[in-house]
Amino acid sequence: MDNQEFREEVLRGLSDSKKHLPSKYFYDDKGSAIFQEIMEMEEYYLPGCEVEILQNQSKDIIGEILSEEIDVIELGAGDGTKTIVFLEEMIRLGKKPTYVPMDISADILKFNEENIASRLPEVPVVPLVGDYFLTMSSLEERKNPRLLMFMGSNIGNFHGERAIEFIRLINGYLQDGDFFLMGVDLKKNPHIIRAAYNDKDGITKRFNLNLLERINRELSADFDLAAFDHYGVYNPKDGAALSFLVSLEDQEVSIGGRKFSFEKFETIHTEVSQKYSLKELDQLAKLTNFSWDRHFTDSKGYYSLSLFRK
Ligand code: TRP
Repeated sequence: MDNQEFREEVLRGLSDSKKHLPSKYFYDDKGSAIFQEIMEMEEYYLPGCEVEILQNQSKDIIGEILSEEIDVIELGAGDGTKTIVFLEEMIRLGKKPTYVPMDISADILKFNEENIASRLPEVPVVPLVGDYFLTMSSLEERKNPRLLMFMGSNIGNFHGERAIEFIRLINGYLQDGDFFLMGVDLKKNPHIIRAAYNDKDGITKRFNLNLLERINRELSADFDLAAFDHYGVYNPKDGAALSFLVSLEDQEVSIGGRKFSFEKFETIHTEVSQKYSLKELDQLAKLTNFSWDRHFTDSKGYYSLSLFRK
């Protein structure tokens, strides 16, 4: 990761009148490890729902796809463990997938590739390391029909209109008849969502504070981690779960020699996790120029794998 870009984005975010930090920097090695803990938390229902849908409904999802050969392209693929269920089902149904996992972490992609090679040796793997936006533009040359996957409710981390822009961009890389499969967290009882971002063991707090620790280490800063708290809210009116770091004192922080002052109880906004209704997802499909969509939800109706066809 480019340190210069990290520095610029941090300084810019903290110079705003309402301070914010970009969430993509949560995921250094330590942050990724804490995120693994979040995924195993009792309150964090999202991964369990996604796995349930993949286990029970991969067959129906694949049933919508006519071609035999297909490039399964996954944005932010991680270790690919969840996707194996889907690829296995494809093989069982006589498809010939090529798996194209994309991720910013070369290490995790190496693991992903070996994982697939040992469990599904018949599936060719073409890993692509890098930022979504850059790696997607290198897709042009491949000729098979495509299924582009964007799992883990990552779409929720785009603010408002940005989600629409991002899906339009994806649409631009697809051809008629190609598919986009997206994991989306749905609107539900607000208490359940609130709890997912405010766990009682303080794992989410550690995850948020790790961003300040990373800034300390990589950008020569002196954030006092004990002087910041984590606060998560969910606003059911607009479906946004927001995470904040809250300054517990009047304080000054130096980042590579530049001073930033924080008032007592001033906030730094770190993350949005947007929740959608199925109706909103239908609108989203139309707004982003897809011709057809279908939702595959878990037994509790908490989560959807939404399939859009171009
Ligand atoms: N962005 C993910 C989500 O929306 C991961 C996440 C879980 C997260 N808990 C968090 C991000 C707390 C920031 C703060 O669920």
